[in-house]
Amino acid sequence: MNTVTKTSLDGAHVVVFGGSTGIGLATAKAVKAQGATVTLAGRTLAKLAAAAGEIGGARTAVADIADRKSVEAVFDGMTRVDHLVITAGGLPVGRLADTDPDQLLSAVKERIAGALYAIKAALPLMPPTASIVLTGGQYSDRPADNGTAVVAAAVRGVEALARALALELKPIRVNVISPGLVETPLFDSFGTEVRAAIFKQAADTLPGGRAGYPDEVAQAIVLLLSNSYMNAEVLHIDGGGRFV
Ligand SMILES: NC(=O)c1ccc[n+]([C@@H]2O[C@H](COP(=O)([O-])OP(=O)(O)OC[C@H]3O[C@@H](n4cnc5c(N)ncnc54)[C@H](OP(=O)(O)O)[C@@H]3O)[C@@H](O)[C@H]2O)c1
Repeated sequence: MNTVTKTSLDGAHVVVFGGSTGIGLATAKAVKAQGATVTLAGRTLAKLAAAAGEIGGARTAVADIADRKSVEAVFDGMTRVDHLVITAGGLPVGRLADTDPDQLLSAVKERIAGALYAIKAALPLMPPTASIVLTGGQYSDRPADNGTAVVAAAVRGVEALARALALELKPIRVNVISPGLVETPLFDSFGTEVRAAIFKQAADTLPGGRAGYPDEVAQAIVLLLSNSYMNAEVLHIDGGGRFV
């Protein structure tokens, strides 16, 4: 008999670190549409409040994923975490020759240490059907000569971490979403001109002629959360960007 086993998100509690904008916010919206309740965590209260309003209500918690105590505090008073999604993280850019390594290492602190802090704190609240989604990125497969060497190392590390933890934390599933270029506020700090140049280059080179949208990545995260046979997977949503 062919039976598709699907983990329903209806009534599930999903915690999204990085849920105030971009891919995390789109994910929160998508899981809410399927009946989940959501906790959004991020560093900025105003952004969290706006996001909660946009999705029609969510618990919010101010936390820096790189700060263990503030991550642990997010789970205070919680009784159950059905799914943990971590999209929190910035894009520190700089060439090693002229950048302080400690500044670049924030990419590792957020993606590796942050994931460990959040998973460790969530674990006692997770049922055997729970799952975790970490965020990688295209630099893992396709490094670029643009000052993102440490980001590339961090996202490659996220993949290795997820695969090993899928074995260690079984039956809790651990997967990675690996986005290509996606239109989100992540690039706002680069300034309007640089941002426009990044997206123009994507339009000129990607097979589909455009960068991705947060909703498109969120759809894939929902698949990772709800398909109970997807485990230790690295799911690429990059418009074919790894190959151009
Ligand atoms: N957009 C892309 O093209 C792309 C491609 C590949 C990978 N990614 C990765 O996907 C993830 C999500 O990116 P996005 O494009 O959705 O970016 P975004 O719109 O800037 O969203 C990032 C979210 O994470 C939060 N955040 C950032 N640093 C944090 C920290 N240290 N602790 C807690 N929360 C933090 C932000 O809120 P606060 O700033 O208020 O904390 C925000 O909610 C990132 O890890 C990014 O590197 C993005």
